[in-house]
Amino acid sequence: MIRGFARLTFNSVLMAVFVGVSAMSSSANGQDKTTQAATIKLPPPRLTGSISVEEAISKRRSVRQFKDSSLSLSELSQLLWAAQGITDTARGLRTAPSAGALYPLEVYAVVGNVTGIAPGIYKYKCRTHELETISLGDARKELAAAALGQEAITQAAVDIVWTAVYERCAKKYQERAELYVPIEVGHSAENVFLQATALNLGAVVMGAFYEDKVQTVLKSPKDERALYIVPIGKK
Ligand SMILES: Cc1cc2nc3c(=O)[nH]c(=O)nc-3n(C[C@H](O)[C@H](O)[C@H](O)COP(=O)(O)O)c2cc1C
Repeated sequence: MIRGFARLTFNSVLMAVFVGVSAMSSSANGQDKTTQAATIKLPPPRLTGSISVEEAISKRRSVRQFKDSSLSLSELSQLLWAAQGITDTARGLRTAPSAGALYPLEVYAVVGNVTGIAPGIYKYKCRTHELETISLGDARKELAAAALGQEAITQAAVDIVWTAVYERCAKKYQERAELYVPIEVGHSAENVFLQATALNLGAVVMGAFYEDKVQTVLKSPKDERALYIVPIGKK
């Protein structure tokens, strides 16, 4: 369901139409709502880059101030692929390891300034390498407010947010899920951090936030817990 239509700019409306947002319809209680989520096909990820993994590791540094410049859709695609992209289509295995290949992580992009898509909240669908629109409208300030007002979240062109469905892991590993899921988000976030570094983008990982408030901003399902925020932008 797409909310916040009133806050869209003219350009955003055009873009929303471009990416295939469904027509508005009226619900039983008379409030406007959309009946169909938009999906946005991401450009395929590149499998080669200009710097080595050693160089990316040595250059990785937390950056908390960003230029007011846009990221390209290819850069966003690359970052999301690094987080959870499929690297073995036959078996459905991903860029980051997962206990028992049960994949409890979900990845959101809180987009503020990415060429080709409207500001809004999107969920990464790794199997099809697509974005599903959760809501339209710039949610960065709201997200920052849920994270003790950390300014980097508002300045970033995009904030990548991880949630997890612990139950996917716990059904096999019981209480070990309390350990395994945070380990997995660390793997995934480090992939994104190194990918951002390789793209010469600034990033910082953030754990200081109220998870219930972040979940409210994301409108995430009740079984997902918010775990990590990574603001990313041009240095
Ligand atoms: C679990 C975790 C939570 C963190 N939370 C925040 C945060 O909320 N805000 C922030 O600005 N930095 C946060 N950081 C980043 C650290 O402050 C940073 O990694 C540290 O100062 C070392 O700097 P470096 O990343 O440049 O090596 C966090 C790092 C980790 C690993």
